[in-house]
Amino acid sequence: MPIYPPTPDTMAVAARILREGGLVGMPTETVYGLAADATNGDAVARVFERKERPRFNPLIVHFSSADAAWSYADPVGAARLLAMAFWPGPLTLVLPMRREAPLSGLVTAGLDTVAVRVPDHEVALALITAAGVPLAAPSANRSGRISPTTAAAVTTELGEDIFVLDGGTCERGLESTVVALDALGGARLLRPGGVATADIEAVIGRGLDCIPPIAEIGDNEDGEAATPASPGQLASHYAPRAMVRLDALDVRAGEALLSFGPMTPPADGPQFNLSPSGDLVEAARNFFAALRLLDDSGVETIAAMPVPEHGLGEAINDRLRRAAHGRR
Ligand code: TXA
Ligand code: MG
Repeated sequence: MPIYPPTPDTMAVAARILREGGLVGMPTETVYGLAADATNGDAVARVFERKERPRFNPLIVHFSSADAAWSYADPVGAARLLAMAFWPGPLTLVLPMRREAPLSGLVTAGLDTVAVRVPDHEVALALITAAGVPLAAPSANRSGRISPTTAAAVTTELGEDIFVLDGGTCERGLESTVVALDALGGARLLRPGGVATADIEAVIGRGLDCIPPIAEIGDNEDGEAATPASPGQLASHYAPRAMVRLDALDVRAGEALLSFGPMTPPADGPQFNLSPSGDLVEAARNFFAALRLLDDSGVETIAAMPVPEHGLGEAINDRLRRAAHGRR
């Protein structure tokens, strides 16, 4: 059995696996991560290998406190302010890396910046503390696939031989918001996520600069987005096996329905309502599990109803567009 409830014994085993350069499936409030010692190059290489992740795509490093993060990353601009407002929680800050930081160069894909975050999950925080090192952890799915929000989904994605700590279903359900800060006061949104953009803008007192929307990113032949600032923002990502039809107002023969809100079109086939009451927080929590469930039903196409583009709706729509990209 590769899935273990967190107990003093299993936590000690997980911490030992990490210190010895192994991988652990780690629950966080956003999605499950595939964790490795961020200071150990061999361990980090195993993460890339296991996920079949392109090496140009850097990883987020997880800390148990903001102060610990600041010894690896320089808290330029509004970093301290944002950390105070949202940590522990689903916000990742991309900051200049400290030269003396003992991180594996693979973690940052050779960039001179590093992505740091303090997760809001007691199992994750306890694991980082027990391991005694910061943990590099991308979402625990094969590269480009649906992110896991349960321990079982980690096993489905990555196989039976990964030691997974079961921290229950992820409370937030979507990855962290990624914001890049620079010493000149620049603040750029690299990925919408678990903290709404408007809430970040309220703290820093101005608008965030944005990366171009998918339509303008332009894929190269491997489906990789060509914006060096945000190497992880591949136009096609979070992809089910089925095709995804966006902004669906009806359900066609052979389709499954991914709906939202109280008014839904009639559907005979598989269906999942992200939030019958129209609550975006609930919809975010259900999103990846719903996509996985409908995909597993074997339909050819998932018809996705529109979700409002405000609050967490922005991050849900980002995931939906990437899930649909190139598969319409
Ligand atoms: O919620 C989350 O963020 C989850 C949990 C496990 O913490 N992790 C996660 O990791 O989503 P991952 O690897 O799937 O996404 C990391 C994102 C990628 O888009 C990556 O390109 C970006 O962060 N990133 C990491 N380091 C960066 C850097 N130095 N500069 C720009 N983008 C960076
Ligand atoms: Mg991911």
